[in-house]
Amino acid sequence: MTRAQLVDIARRGVAHYRAGTVDQESGIHEVPVANYHDADRWQLEMDHIFGRLPLMVAFSAELRGAGAYKAMDVAGMPVLLSRGDGGAVRAFVNMCSHRGAIVVADGLGTARRHACPYHSWTYDSHGDLVGIRDAATFGDVDKSCNGLTSLPVAERAGLVWVTLRPAGSIDIDAHLCGYGEMLTHLDFENCHVVGRQTVEGPGWKVAYDGYLDYYHLPVLHRESFGPDMSSEALFDSWGPHQRVTAPDRHFAELAELPEDEWTIERLIGGVWTIFPHVSIAAFDAGGKMYMVSQLFPGDAAGESYTIQNFLHTRPPDDEQAELVAERMAFLERVVRDEDYYTGKRIERTVRTGAKSVFMFGRNEGGGQRFHRWVDAVLATDDADLAELFGSGVESLR
Ligand SMILES: [Fe+2]
Repeated sequence: MTRAQLVDIARRGVAHYRAGTVDQESGIHEVPVANYHDADRWQLEMDHIFGRLPLMVAFSAELRGAGAYKAMDVAGMPVLLSRGDGGAVRAFVNMCSHRGAIVVADGLGTARRHACPYHSWTYDSHGDLVGIRDAATFGDVDKSCNGLTSLPVAERAGLVWVTLRPAGSIDIDAHLCGYGEMLTHLDFENCHVVGRQTVEGPGWKVAYDGYLDYYHLPVLHRESFGPDMSSEALFDSWGPHQRVTAPDRHFAELAELPEDEWTIERLIGGVWTIFPHVSIAAFDAGGKMYMVSQLFPGDAAGESYTIQNFLHTRPPDDEQAELVAERMAFLERVVRDEDYYTGKRIERTVRTGAKSVFMFGRNEGGGQRFHRWVDAVLATDDADLAELFGSGVESLR
């Protein structure tokens, strides 16, 4: 079923390649420059986008087996993910019920119990409070209603999402608009996490614009990987989630083959993004390696940081480790010294007041749709959010 979608996309790519054409939006889309630096607008983005949409925070491959956990900061909230005895992943605010200390230090591991570092209250992998130190002299506490506070969580396609509203819920299939089935083709479920590094960046939208943008590749990246890259792009979207490909040699290869030889591997190229903050690209490192960039806002409109996660399709060994380390260093350098260096300088210009709008051209449909979706989510009340991700999809294409 979803292979058919990949084939349709590839047919379109081949047709563009043969005709020497690209996707064209109906017009140039203008985005107010103020959207990039206005503090009130940024706060609204934090509340309405990062504060209530599902965020992709972890990989199934990081949480293998009962007791596996991951603790991290997610857009300002300390979050603990933990796989329980029944196999389901749970998510919690990583905050002790006693007096609010962060219970589990950031990182990954496996543990049946988590002891708070402040007074050693203890929680199990289901978030239940199981131990109060010196309970006899502490006083009566009902352990059954003082576990860690749960967050809505969902696991699909080898990826784990949470929403940061303890009392909320998560309908990940509605949020993904059919994209979850597409992501299963990337096979993260069977990948191995082989590395992780963090890059400080400009404001989250300046940074994210770059991941949807092929136009800049041969220019900004002329000293690194740019000379081999097409600056033209084809976009496909499932709700706000978008895949970017280029009508280049990849489609030239497909054009030479009968369709029954279009393997899944040949059909899943390009950049896959997950709204509002994830970008996935594949590289060669002794086999296939994905870089999954998780973008998180910093403390103000002009700041963000990106966790670059590296997942490999085959288990790690010494030879692979060397190639992975080389690739990781290269990708850190490219993103830090080329993309985010430029982005941070954009953060200086947006505050000058010299320009009132930025332009997204007719072949920059990815950025056009991204900004339309940001606007739409900001303008939508909680009660209407599900509808936006359902019937509103087509109107935002
Ligand atoms: Fe770039």
